[in-house]
Amino acid sequence: MKKLGTARRVSWSLMACLFIWQGGEALAASPPVSYGVEADTFHPVKAQHGMVASVDATATQVGVEILRQGGNAVDAAVAVGFALAVTHPQAGNLGGGGFMMLRTASGRTTAIDFREMAPGKASRDMFLDAQGNADSKLSLTSPLASGTPGTVAGFALAAQKYGTLPLSKLLQPAIDLARKGIVVNDALADDLNVYGKEVLLNHPNSKAIFFKTDGTPYKKGERLIQRNLAHSLSLIAQQGPKAFYQGEIADEIAGEMAQHGGLMGKADLAAYRAVERQPVSGTYRGYEVFSMPPPSSGGIHIVQILNILENFDLAKMGFGSADAMQVIAEAEKYAYADRSEYLGDPDFVKVPSQALTSKAYAKAIAQKIDLAKARPSSEIKPGKLAPYESNQTTHFSVVDRQGNAVAVTYTLNTNFGSGIVAGKSGILLNNEMDDFSAKPGTPNVYGLVGGEANAVQPAKRPLSSMSPTIIAKDGKTWLVTGSPGGSRIITTVLQMVVNSIDFGMNVAEATNAPRFHHQWLPDELRVEKGFSPDTLKLLEAKGQHVKVEPAMGSTQSIMIGPDGMLYGASDPRTVDDLTAGY
Ligand code: DON
Repeated sequence: MKKLGTARRVSWSLMACLFIWQGGEALAASPPVSYGVEADTFHPVKAQHGMVASVDATATQVGVEILRQGGNAVDAAVAVGFALAVTHPQAGNLGGGGFMMLRTASGRTTAIDFREMAPGKASRDMFLDAQGNADSKLSLTSPLASGTPGTVAGFALAAQKYGTLPLSKLLQPAIDLARKGIVVNDALADDLNVYGKEVLLNHPNSKAIFFKTDGTPYKKGERLIQRNLAHSLSLIAQQGPKAFYQGEIADEIAGEMAQHGGLMGKADLAAYRAVERQPVSGTYRGYEVFSMPPPSSGGIHIVQILNILENFDLAKMGFGSADAMQVIAEAEKYAYADRSEYLGDPDFVKVPSQALTSKAYAKAIAQKIDLAKARPSSEIKPGKLAPYESNQTTHFSVVDRQGNAVAVTYTLNTNFGSGIVAGKSGILLNNEMDDFSAKPGTPNVYGLVGGEANAVQPAKRPLSSMSPTIIAKDGKTWLVTGSPGGSRIITTVLQMVVNSIDFGMNVAEATNAPRFHHQWLPDELRVEKGFSPDTLKLLEAKGQHVKVEPAMGSTQSIMIGPDGMLYGASDPRTVDDLTAGY
């Protein structure tokens, strides 16, 4: 299923070094006695020269091959990203967008924003029905759902500025996979059977690709060939991103939109730019944190929550203790309340990043947190309850032999995006417009509410939670991580950091440990299976509304040991993913 033959047991003595190197707090949380390799509950994949962790085994192998051939982490990440567009069409994409965090071996950090942009004809109330209510069908499954895609521009910018190999070489594995076909794995078969039937079947272009002539979706073990996608990828290989934004592919996308009432036109595509931004940075118990700035909310709120948590001795409380969960959940409520008010596209609204990530502000919030009693969300800020739905995004992490590290999270938003393939391009279009706040106070598909700062405006980027994150210790990259999960991304990545730093877990343990999540509204503490019922009872007694729900997130992470050894882990919550190296 996963990890194939690449998983290795990591010797306890080595991991012990890692913990010592993490600093005093982590040492306190480490098991006091060494019992040999059995001391670790779960074991990371280990490699010496380079490593890729992604949600799809074939895409991971594409990345490792690029590293082996001498490509750097950016080359490998771009090749993985293009490959995922073929092998993992639920979220891998050319028709969507995302973010790349890069930390070079020399310690330079940068963030590439290739988030979708609202078309020029978009308007504030475009997702309201005649009664003035938000209509999620419009923002999720109609031609209005798609923002102008950024993935091709983002990867081209990354490759040109930070890569070493030509874009055409990085596209070739994806072209081959699309042309020769992929063997459908469990994850794709299941998702086609459930979400594919919901969103792809209605659209003839999409149906023709993902469903067989008998009208049933491709099943596990069957070969899926994507000829039109192969053609589009080849055009980009030959002509560069112009093929997508101004050439034949732009014609197909604009044509599809014009025919079915979408707003995105050739002018929107021609005007699209990927932007390089300065990462959000902070510190946590001596570690440096680098994550995605707006239009993602992820970086700001991860740093904000970590700043709040620094005021508490989580290591002493212990993983899974009611006290630790109480503190983290309360900190999350305050952060998500701020998110709904202040966060939006920084090209349109002034996001108070400094204030939100300041230690003083965090301390003031920490003082309001009561270990014994949960503060009802309604007292923090008013809002409405919202349901959760299933969804899909994907994250991958890459480290090369020089020590360059790349974390990419990109998406079509929900599974297969809008479900619409643009004309003959073979390219699925996103439904990222749903990440705007269609109406103040009305939750989106992730139950997130927002206001003016995230209202729809022409050429604006919808607010995201995607949080590709890199942690450094003593000036060296230490942890590269990220996850899908909509609103749960921020808290999932946060728990990777806290599990690793406060609870002394290795990267596999930090990944596998059960997760929990509070997003202020709805006022519920969502937990995965695996926490002690005693803990959950204690949390209820403190006033938390505990709800056991399906698994959250799919982290793909790499940790670098003091000796430069790479330790990686794919998330056991997803099937068919793989961490591998050489
Ligand atoms: O940008 C965002 O925050 C969302 N569009 C991400 C969607 C997502 O993570 C779905 N996945 N599980």
